[in-house]
Amino acid sequence: MNAIFYFSGTGNSRYVAQTLARLTGDALYDMAQASGTVRGALRYDRIGWVFPVHAWGLPRWVRRFMQSLLDGFAAPEAYVYGVMTCGDDIGLADRELRSALQSKGMTLHAVFSVQMPNTYVCLPGFDVDSEAVANRKLDAARPALDAIAADVLAAHRGVSRVTPGRMPWMKSRVLRPLFNRLLVTDRYFHTLPSCNGCHTCSAHCPVRNIRHRPDGRPEWLGHCTGCLACYHTCPQHAVRFGHTTRHKGQYTCPTDGQPRRSDRKNETADRNSRTADRKNGQCARHLPDHTQSIINKP
Ligand SMILES: Cc1cc2nc3c(=O)[nH]c(=O)nc-3n(C[C@H](O)[C@H](O)[C@H](O)COP(=O)(O)O)c2cc1C
Ligand code: SF4
Ligand code: SF4
Repeated sequence: MNAIFYFSGTGNSRYVAQTLARLTGDALYDMAQASGTVRGALRYDRIGWVFPVHAWGLPRWVRRFMQSLLDGFAAPEAYVYGVMTCGDDIGLADRELRSALQSKGMTLHAVFSVQMPNTYVCLPGFDVDSEAVANRKLDAARPALDAIAADVLAAHRGVSRVTPGRMPWMKSRVLRPLFNRLLVTDRYFHTLPSCNGCHTCSAHCPVRNIRHRPDGRPEWLGHCTGCLACYHTCPQHAVRFGHTTRHKGQYTCPTDGQPRRSDRKNETADRNSRTADRKNGQCARHLPDHTQSIINKP
């Protein structure tokens, strides 16, 4: 059995995972929905891990998901690969992935990073990419994914096609722990009066960390993984993280991976259809026929 497990906040990694699933024919599972239900009896032969890099490492949720896997999850000779999406660079995230998998008896045979539009906006100096940069990254991602799928189908081993960036040690070993301790929190989220209680933020939270008060306003519940889906998907742009996101932009990945159009009407239509897709469970338009939720497995 071959499978791709993905985690995604704003859709970049979902798009990458869906594309790889289409190219490889492998089943696709959302880690956010599969959590707590993955059983070792499945014994996968080829396993792909697809997720965004958060602060030059694994998102907290992905780390916990991997820790929760039972022995025997992978077949002893399983081919294992990782694809990390990032805005710029991954630092030493590949090493963290390797050791997280190793602790579950899996060897990482191939690892890749794919630059996608940036989603981090919570510190001064960080913002979403301009439309031109975002479109350029999306354009470049497509051939990169074809090449990754070719490596995976040929079961190439010892492949490492990642962008560590400058001073990766400093980023992953010094800045990352500080970031995790101080900034992976929902303590600073609040909403503007323009919030109309539409529930879009909670519908997009992959870890169900948002509920709504009787007036419809969101309330964050304290187990945030920091993906910023609630911030980026709010149609009113009413979610704020402290004061630093005041003048920042929003971004969500177009489900079809096509470069974004500049026409705002089209963007709104795209966003509405993405919301409908998410409410139906997943971005159904791009799931291969054999895709099924692991929750439905016996
Ligand atoms: C909390 C957080 C931390 C991030 N850290 C990094 C990083 O260290 N390096 C980087 O290049 N991009 C970073 N990004 C950008 C995302 O990795 C990138 O935009 C990714 O494709 C988002 O994937 P998603 O849409 O599947 O959530 C970060 C984004 C968030 C929300
Ligand atoms: S998505 Fe925005 S407007 Fe809708 S409930 Fe959440 S914060 Fe309010
Ligand atoms: S509360 Fe917001 S930032 Fe935290 S996990 Fe949910 S969507 Fe992501």
